[in-house]
Amino acid sequence: MRFPTLLQFPRLFLCLLSVSIIGCGGNPEFATKDTPKAMSATPAAAPATVATFAGIRNAYKISKTSTGFSVKELSGAGTTVNLSGQTSAKFADVTVNLLVGDKSKTIPAASLKTLIELYIAFFNRVPDADGMSYWIDQIKAGVNVDQLSASFYDAAVQFTALTGYSATMSNEQFVRIIYQNVLGRSGATAPPDADVAYWAGELASGKPKGFLVATMLNSAHTFANDPEWGWVPQLLDNKVTVGTFFAIQQGLNYNTSEESISKGMDIAKAVTSTDISLAKTKIGMTDVLFDLTAAISNSEFEKVQSIINAHCLTCHSTQRTEGGIALHTADLIRRNADALYIMTVVTRAMPQDGVLSADEIATISAWYLAGAK
Ligand code: HEC
Repeated sequence: MRFPTLLQFPRLFLCLLSVSIIGCGGNPEFATKDTPKAMSATPAAAPATVATFAGIRNAYKISKTSTGFSVKELSGAGTTVNLSGQTSAKFADVTVNLLVGDKSKTIPAASLKTLIELYIAFFNRVPDADGMSYWIDQIKAGVNVDQLSASFYDAAVQFTALTGYSATMSNEQFVRIIYQNVLGRSGATAPPDADVAYWAGELASGKPKGFLVATMLNSAHTFANDPEWGWVPQLLDNKVTVGTFFAIQQGLNYNTSEESISKGMDIAKAVTSTDISLAKTKIGMTDVLFDLTAAISNSEFEKVQSIINAHCLTCHSTQRTEGGIALHTADLIRRNADALYIMTVVTRAMPQDGVLSADEIATISAWYLAGAK
């Protein structure tokens, strides 16, 4: 059995429905396929408006503003473009869905997590933002997990060449894929034939495939802290974390189907039960403070202040003023900017009782170097 490739089908459906946010490159056969039944009643979304930038995403810094977003060029003329009303920002390498962060909050967090888990279960890939946006609308329209699973499966079967799934694949083959993707079980930890046969029998007796997937996902979660299988839910949760970062917080889609397929899978494969840093490196976004789910931007100073509030006030406020330094007001932070910068960015001696993340250090550094305003 070939491991399933891809999948880019949600974008595909968007193409079929003529509500594509970005170009639907790739295989022209898509255009001639019928819209899957489950999708045919979907109303068309509002027309997308795209702001296009010549450079790659990492050449810019995006911030939320009270009216939309600002996109600042990091080198060259350093131009800032303000976006208001655009649905996405297209760069040379990726397209950012600017609305997906807010949209993700319109369904329960558990549903959002399940949706990302379905991408992992069926295709072992991180989702793309446009796909997530599409399925969030489906969930809001009342589609449940079984129906979602059925749609994922139908899409996979319909596009065999891209997915490795086929209408003629045996139940055993399907069960093994789900074991591998959800439970991380293949090779040395492959399920015993009897287990596979049991589940294949359940499917043969009419249980929907979505039932199997939902059962596997639920089962995976029950192994939390299990000495032998505790890594299974950790691996799944880490993939969800990376998927959330990629599709929801960063709002990412690659610009071609081929890349979304191969890179989405590469990213998921780089996740382990103990580490997501390799996967984050593969995503390679340097504007890591950008987060579509975060509250409206925060000026640079407000970000610095929230870091200080979180890490420094136990020793530097009205109760304790270690080293003669207090940092509990905006004015105090600005007045002590030089010492603060030296202690957190240069020597990294502070906070005395812990460490700042690379992102936090970068935030303080950028604020200071821009004049500590
Ligand atoms: C657990 C207590 C503790 C925490 C938390 C802490 N500090 Fe300090 N800080 C100290 C002590 C003790 C000193 C004085 C001794 C020293 O300089 O090492 C100090 C000194 C300083 C000084 C003065 C250094 C100098 O001599 O010029 C600065 C600036 C400073 N801290 C900034 C920070 C910042 C910024 C944070 C948060 C990111 C922070 N500290 C968190 C304990 C703490």
